[in-house]
Amino acid sequence: MIDKSLQQLLRQTSNIVALTGAGVSAESGIPTFRDAQQGMWANFDPMELATLEGFLRQPHKVWDWYQQRREMAAKAQPNAAHLALAEWQEQLEQCLIVTQNVDGLHQRAGSLHVIELHGNLHRDRPISQQLPAEKAADLPRCPETGNVLRPDVVWFGEMLPEGAMEQALSAIEVSDLVLSIGTSAVVQPAASIPLHALENGVPVVEINPETTELSSAADWSLRGSAADVVPQLVAAAQLHYSRDRLSR
Ligand code: APR
Repeated sequence: MIDKSLQQLLRQTSNIVALTGAGVSAESGIPTFRDAQQGMWANFDPMELATLEGFLRQPHKVWDWYQQRREMAAKAQPNAAHLALAEWQEQLEQCLIVTQNVDGLHQRAGSLHVIELHGNLHRDRPISQQLPAEKAADLPRCPETGNVLRPDVVWFGEMLPEGAMEQALSAIEVSDLVLSIGTSAVVQPAASIPLHALENGVPVVEINPETTELSSAADWSLRGSAADVVPQLVAAAQLHYSRDRLSR
């Protein structure tokens, strides 16, 4: 799995950027989006549930779905991949996690340096639009503005949080290794992050049980699950980890 040249690079690395996607949380029991059968978008219409228009049309339906996802994420536990990345953050001078995930599992694993590109499921924010009274009945409201609240996640067609992408790209330019873990690398602008690394001469390691849009361009494309492969990368980097945290 981890060849000599990758091992050498891992040992020399002091500044990592890890882009993560839904695949990192799959082994915590949270379904990915585009898995053919199990993926959320195979069973739900993203235009209905993950757009502002869909929310304004059916706010209760969207809130019910996010409530279910919140409960699922709250019940889930960080897995060995989340924990290994948190360890890496503790040990390395620079180790930044740039996640597309909204489940907060990186932070629950102890990671402090996390850029949430797509927001966070466990936060709300008020909408600016006024909903007709009959549609807005019983919806959560902002205590300050009285406006209807929505989940603080990025829906299709919406801008990412201000500065998030710029922060991620500038971190890449000074990094010496980029990991792309558990993402299909199709959703922009996140999918351009590993490509920016390659354009800047920064090596890219992909971890995914399947091939993706990125696989042929990555310097290493490791076929395996995140919870299996990320701890191996940590071990190969020979950083002195507290064994017990990894074995939990
Ligand atoms: N370990 C590593 N990778 C895995 C695992 C695992 N255990 N299980 C599945 N994968 C891989 C799949 O092969 C797939 O390539 O994770 C990837 C998940 O891809 P998507 O479901 O497309 O999720 P992601 O790339 O995070 O989606 C990006 O799209 O729907 C929007 O906003 C949503 O943040 C999301 C964005």
